[in-house]
Amino acid sequence: MTDLQKLEDDVLAAIGGATTEQALEEVRVGALGKKGSISQVMKGLGKMSPEERKEMGPKLNGLKNKVADAIALAKSALHEAALEARLKSETIDITQPARPTPLSEGRIHPISQVMDEITAIFADLGFGVEEGPDIETDHYNFEALNFPEGHPAREMHDTFYFNEKEDGSRLLLRTHTSPVQVRTMEAGKPPFRFVAPGRTFRCDSDQTHTPQFHQIEGLVIDEKTHMGHLKWTLEEFLRAFFETDKVEILFRPSFFPFTEPSMEVDVRCARNGNEIRIGEGDDWMEILGCGMVHPNVLKAAGMDPEKYQGFAFGMGIDRLAMLKYGIPDLRAFFETDLRWLRHYGFSALDIPTLAGGLSS
Ligand code: DAH
Repeated sequence: MTDLQKLEDDVLAAIGGATTEQALEEVRVGALGKKGSISQVMKGLGKMSPEERKEMGPKLNGLKNKVADAIALAKSALHEAALEARLKSETIDITQPARPTPLSEGRIHPISQVMDEITAIFADLGFGVEEGPDIETDHYNFEALNFPEGHPAREMHDTFYFNEKEDGSRLLLRTHTSPVQVRTMEAGKPPFRFVAPGRTFRCDSDQTHTPQFHQIEGLVIDEKTHMGHLKWTLEEFLRAFFETDKVEILFRPSFFPFTEPSMEVDVRCARNGNEIRIGEGDDWMEILGCGMVHPNVLKAAGMDPEKYQGFAFGMGIDRLAMLKYGIPDLRAFFETDLRWLRHYGFSALDIPTLAGGLSS
């Protein structure tokens, strides 16, 4: 009898003394577990006389329930206390300034920015975006673009060649994005309307030339596409790109093997020392080459020049970036100078769109 009372006092004291959920669990196992103190006494019931059992049974059951209740109560109290402590230790001081994250620190290179701007404008005009490989064959870089073997226009391209292969052919680093015209036409069906931005390479290096640079090609092929469409498209593009309605352009006759007629396009500008302002003044500056696609190119790409015609254009992205953002030296684009990038770079979160602003 007193034993049972002592057992109860001991177990309840142990429950009261448990300061962690872990310690409480140990007390539970020690009392109610298979070999626990209370369970042991309950096992003894079987050996008791019926009278004893009658008396002890309910008492033991009562004790068991009392202890189980006390444990459940203590457990929920400990759980609450632990949660409370954790919440306290994990509070965030929202008055602290935000730490800089890679997203707010990182900068988009002006060339990437300008590529995004240009593709956003052409996407708005219904152009798709295509790509081609940096390493090209002579066929796509020259032959299919109507530069036959030995054609003098090839010399103007200062091509980087790879070593000759056994069959005498040589791969090369594409000297312009024009090969994407042929690759895309071969792979698809007319009509075509796309731009193709990318890296280009020429063995040339001085203040205004770097061995690697960037171009964007444009191609529109349909049954009735004509030079009026070309002129409208370019004017529309330049107005959007330079973010001014004042853009005025001039077509000058030129020569490219893959277009006939071929033209270079100048924009009206004002020059004042290093500063160039588009749409003002009496100077003209060349910004792109274009023309009506040569029938030989259409043929090389598997199309019938009697049925299909269209225009192409190609621009230097680096120069457009320099012009738009007042960047004086081309070579800085490739120097990976973080201070320069912080100054001329763009926030990764400001994605250029026509509706939201190209360069805001
Ligand atoms: N591929 C020429 C170059 O790199 C640029 C060019 C001129 C592209 C006229 C064209 C074009 O598509 O029609 O010099």
